[in-house]
Amino acid sequence: MTQHAQAIAPHGGKLINRLATATERQEFLEQAENLARVQLDERALSDLVMIAIGGFSPLTGFMEQADYETVVTDMRLANGTPWSIPVTLSVTETIADPLKEGSWVRLDDQTGRFVGVLELTQKYRYNKNHEAVNVYRTDDEKHPGVAVVHGQGPINLAGPVWLMQRDEHPLFPSYQVDPVVSRSQFQERGWQTVVGFQTRNPIHRAHEYIIKCALETVDGLFLHPLVGATKSDDIPADVRMRCYEIMVENYFPQERVILAINPSAMRYAGPREAIFHALIRKNYGCTHFIVGRDHAGVGDYYGTYDAQEIFSEFEPAELGITPMKFEHAFYCKRTEGMATSKTSPSTPEERIHLSGTKVRELLRNGELPPPEFSRPLVATELARVMKGS
Ligand code: ADX
Repeated sequence: MTQHAQAIAPHGGKLINRLATATERQEFLEQAENLARVQLDERALSDLVMIAIGGFSPLTGFMEQADYETVVTDMRLANGTPWSIPVTLSVTETIADPLKEGSWVRLDDQTGRFVGVLELTQKYRYNKNHEAVNVYRTDDEKHPGVAVVHGQGPINLAGPVWLMQRDEHPLFPSYQVDPVVSRSQFQERGWQTVVGFQTRNPIHRAHEYIIKCALETVDGLFLHPLVGATKSDDIPADVRMRCYEIMVENYFPQERVILAINPSAMRYAGPREAIFHALIRKNYGCTHFIVGRDHAGVGDYYGTYDAQEIFSEFEPAELGITPMKFEHAFYCKRTEGMATSKTSPSTPEERIHLSGTKVRELLRNGELPPPEFSRPLVATELARVMKGS
């Protein structure tokens, strides 16, 4: 490995930094009491952070109408750059009406703390049904991403943002690795090729298998679990983080893995979110990104490999990060190892794969998922925490 690996360009060419400088912060603080306020929910707050740290490069703020419309219909920003998920600050009319375009808006978190500033360049209405059908491929309000769209206000507030300060993550400070840092860590390690792995579940053996297949062909792994907002029946982030730590400590060559948190919120938008997830990891410096079965899916809304097929709607160079696509992996009783139908001749009866629902049911009853599904150390930790939950 060379000591001077060439870093992959961020999406759009430049890593965005929207952290207020000391002078800007001072100016904002002086104005704080005079500015109109908008309170951010968990997702909008994590979007603000992702914009500020460059995870959403080239976005510099919440989307204006031109970008929003082309993202929804064509998966591109108005200038043609691929982008698959709207990033909007959607509020009620009561909140939007008094706000003046051209003014600064103070952004507060749920506790009323001053966390950011929006330079309000535009307020616009949008069509929720149109967004749902295009982005989520359904208007069913039972879909958790669609439910968010229908539950939010009808006006989008748009414009560039500043984050007042980059706070330590309250639960995982040592895993808070922002894009500028991950990029330098990859360079320090001399990694020319790095595969990013998105997950919102405790790592099971199928995850481990596809990660390790990928790691056989690249220099390093960026294990990047999402710890922003998820639906209520997903396993909580602190529990998952302990499982990832157990995995890295016991089952991976540690010098080839960086474990870090992805602060953004899940959308459950399946194929569109796979593109979004890949672009985010490109911004963190990854050259490759794993897309397995039903990536970012929920229920039966998406076909098993829709999230892989969507990559062919773009030229590889305009995405600038290479998807590594994996078939549905399982434990194969005949060959006594993890496999997919590409590598195993097994019959369906010889394959062990458990649904997330089944695993949660076992855990609530205090039972361990079998070793063919989950590494015993991880299963024990999960069962300890989840029993009776
Ligand atoms: S996701 O919402 O973050 O996609 P999850 O944490 O379950 O959910 O998946 C993380 C990644 O592993 C995704 O790329 C997903 O497609 C992949 N994956 C999960 N389970 C399997 C499996 N059994 N076989 C192949 N890929 C899988």
